[in-house]
Amino acid sequence: MSNKIVLLPGDGIGAEVIYAAKDVLEAISKKFDLEFEFSSYDIGGIAIDKHNSPLPVETIDACKKSDAVLLGAVGGPKWDNNPSDLRPERGLLGIRKALDLYANLRPVKGFKKLLAASPLKEDIINGSDLLIVRELTGGLYFGQPSERRDNGNAVVDTLAYTKKEMERIVDKAFQSAQLRHKHLTSVDKANVLESSKLWREIVEEKKNEYPDVTVEHVLVDAAAMKLITNPTQFDVIVTENMFGDILSDEASVLTGSLGMLPSASLAENGIGLYEPAHGSAPDIAGKGIANPIAMILSAAMMLRYSFDKNEEASAIDKAVEDVLNQGYHTADLQNENGTLVNTKEMTELIVKAIES
Ligand code: IPM
Ligand code: MN
Repeated sequence: MSNKIVLLPGDGIGAEVIYAAKDVLEAISKKFDLEFEFSSYDIGGIAIDKHNSPLPVETIDACKKSDAVLLGAVGGPKWDNNPSDLRPERGLLGIRKALDLYANLRPVKGFKKLLAASPLKEDIINGSDLLIVRELTGGLYFGQPSERRDNGNAVVDTLAYTKKEMERIVDKAFQSAQLRHKHLTSVDKANVLESSKLWREIVEEKKNEYPDVTVEHVLVDAAAMKLITNPTQFDVIVTENMFGDILSDEASVLTGSLGMLPSASLAENGIGLYEPAHGSAPDIAGKGIANPIAMILSAAMMLRYSFDKNEEASAIDKAVEDVLNQGYHTADLQNENGTLVNTKEMTELIVKAIES
């Protein structure tokens, strides 16, 4: 049976990295006798240019009919001054909402070889291995339409959640912790925000259902500090949409580069969308030097979560690790004694490592 994968390259380096991931999946397909059927659709800025919409209906339809979606990145300076409904980011938020991708899993695991590539001290980050479970379809990103009031002298963004939206992401996080080291850190701002007070109550209620998981509550400002001073204390972090967005970029520093961070966005019983946590990087777009690893590791997450293919996923993870261990690195990763390669070369090395 063929697995139907929709590719949404998007903007900037999105296309460069997504076709790298496709090459890697083709190598997996040959090696493990798995069939993939790929099709590509527009999202983001390129969709605005071609269809006058950041999320054309045919893109949504194709994603809904697929088994899994891979997304590159959206956005760029070209569309920065567009009105808000014609911004590339609207396409990304729209597809998350349309597919009800409420759970965004962002694993942050340092590769040994890249310890020195992080600006943080090696002895602090050594051994860090955590999973950020970010709520993805609620909160400030999806409140009442934002408003400018009082002739532009005031603005309103709203942070809204239902109890059910909080419960399902908290459940997902407890279940993720059960599959890992059984420790959950819930991050909120319960000393100030009503939404965070309810969040904390829900975590307290839910913890009785998962007695094997230890739980702690940490305020988001303290969590931001702890992430880079003592990252090994974390196993699974669960938090709302905006806090998760900020903390996951911060956590990427542990891995040496944002170009290393994959993610999975999952619906309750539906398909998953897999994308790197980095953006479209317009400053390096088209130069062929982007780090494809976050996208390639996202494809591995797809194999694991959408297709239940653990062996195949591990083959990708291992190939990436082997290539890094040989000293190859892209320009975003500092490695004075290594060999600098571009997107295509890095992809070929990973493909070869899979084939070998
Ligand atoms: C991410 C990105 C997006 C977000 C942007 C591009 C809308 O930063 O996936 O983390 O904020 O969710
Ligand atoms: Mn982000």
